[in-house]
Amino acid sequence: MSTEFAIVDLFAGPGGLAEGFSSIRNKDGSHPFQIALSVEKEDSAFETLRFRSFFRQFNGSPPADYYRFLNGEIPEPDWSALFPVEWKHACLETVKLELGSPVATREIDARLAQITANYRSNVILIGGPPCQAYSLVGRARNKGTVGYEASADHRHFLYKEYIRILQALMPAVFVMENVKGLLSSSVDGERVFDQVLGDLRRVGGGSYRLVPLAPRSGQSFFAGMIHPPAADFVVRAEDHGIPQSRHRIIIVGIRADIAAGLDDSQINAALLPRSESPVMVQQILKGMPKLRSGLSKENDSEQIWKSETSRIMRDVSKAAIELSDDDKKAFRALGKNVAGGLSAAKKTYRRFGGAYAKVPASCPNELKQWLIDRRLKVFPNNETRGHMLADLGRYFYAALYGRIVGVSPKAKDFPRELAPDHRNWKTGKFADRFRVQLWKSPATTITSHISKDGHYFIHPDPAQCRSLTVREAARLQTFPDNYFFKGNRTQQFVQVGNAVPPFLARKIASSVYGLLLAGTVSRKLKRAS
Ligand SMILES: C[S@@+](CC[C@H](N)C(=O)[O-])C[C@H]1O[C@@H](n2cnc3c(N)ncnc32)[C@H](O)[C@@H]1O
Repeated sequence: MSTEFAIVDLFAGPGGLAEGFSSIRNKDGSHPFQIALSVEKEDSAFETLRFRSFFRQFNGSPPADYYRFLNGEIPEPDWSALFPVEWKHACLETVKLELGSPVATREIDARLAQITANYRSNVILIGGPPCQAYSLVGRARNKGTVGYEASADHRHFLYKEYIRILQALMPAVFVMENVKGLLSSSVDGERVFDQVLGDLRRVGGGSYRLVPLAPRSGQSFFAGMIHPPAADFVVRAEDHGIPQSRHRIIIVGIRADIAAGLDDSQINAALLPRSESPVMVQQILKGMPKLRSGLSKENDSEQIWKSETSRIMRDVSKAAIELSDDDKKAFRALGKNVAGGLSAAKKTYRRFGGAYAKVPASCPNELKQWLIDRRLKVFPNNETRGHMLADLGRYFYAALYGRIVGVSPKAKDFPRELAPDHRNWKTGKFADRFRVQLWKSPATTITSHISKDGHYFIHPDPAQCRSLTVREAARLQTFPDNYFFKGNRTQQFVQVGNAVPPFLARKIASSVYGLLLAGTVSRKLKRAS
């Protein structure tokens, strides 16, 4: 089947989902999914989206200037002057609009009419409405807000705009992503998720069959299960080869005429394949350049960082820690070793740069090929942030503890000397205030909170004594190394944290393509007989 499908991507963020869909190829190298329209309201995410769309116009062979820019050899050129045709395509594909506003509704409806004229019903709708109000964090925070009324929060109902567009477009398939908090969020006593499922099923008078791609209630799908349990819609990224524990709701809706052509075995064949073992942080980050953090309150220089950090490291290695005798011994030895190594080191750590390194050999091959780009000389978006000296001590402690004990320390596990000046530090409220990533586990969920401070995203190497860079977080989110994030560092972190991991999106896209092929072929066969 050489049919092409137009992708309409709403609430597109930096474009994680779209990246996965656009990466699918037929045997002859052609792309079955064409990104027709991506909509995003935030400036920097939109810029990232447009720049990636520009990159894609070159079909795998971007020009030398793209790499000279990413490698920091030239300032960003005027792409529209250098490559007017490709730039124009990128500008057509990506639009900066606030969905739900009257201006956006007018423009989107006109664009959707064009897309349906060109592709008829071969359209796929991807993306989910924003989730802050659904998220557990959002709910906990809102609870304390005087006068907060869940039913008046427009974010709870932005998905209605999504439903409206779904109704207008009647795509062959839709893929809706959202946070897991949606499962436990309710408005006026009604569970938001049930309301969403009901709305999705009712579109077009009951035109969609909702399929969970990784059902946990049984590893296969049964025809009788027209209404699968809500929890089945949760996809656990770490079960599918993503080096990160990330649990998100993914609902795939298949239009009834296509779903009618599918039997259980065809649906089961299209479910997300499970990986045999989880991909660990060390399989992704080991070998990347060793960088130092910046100093946010002091004069920032390599010299000051080195002398202050080795002093802090020595102090922390001697701190009063509550560990078994063996662990304490190992902790102190490792701490002293790292501190000694830093003061004696001839080379100094920089805050960015260092040669481009490939992914460790232990990284699964397909993911390795997905991430690396041999034309890069450096890692783009890979500058460390500044930290307070007190936090450097906590980061060093957490990284040592992680190495020796194999888990991230809770507040109660920190020595008194390192306790922040909070009255509630040991009450349990801040139990997880600092979290180190562990070399031998998948990363914890990379959220947009990483833009606020690095405390949850401490690098596992005690010698670097810092939080993750945007690029390291992007790798754990499986963005290819040549995916460039626009905006300032805070905005880049938000984009990375918000995204669907592109490598997971590729697997979702592959499942969707499998369903489309099976469903449409069976339909044709039935019609012919
Ligand atoms: C969770 S992110 C989407 C991630 C994306 N699906 C991906 O795969 O990378 C949600 C995005 O919706 C955008 N957004 C929120 N409200 C919007 C609106 N009314 N119109 C357009 N975009 C909006 C936010 O700026 C954010 O970038």
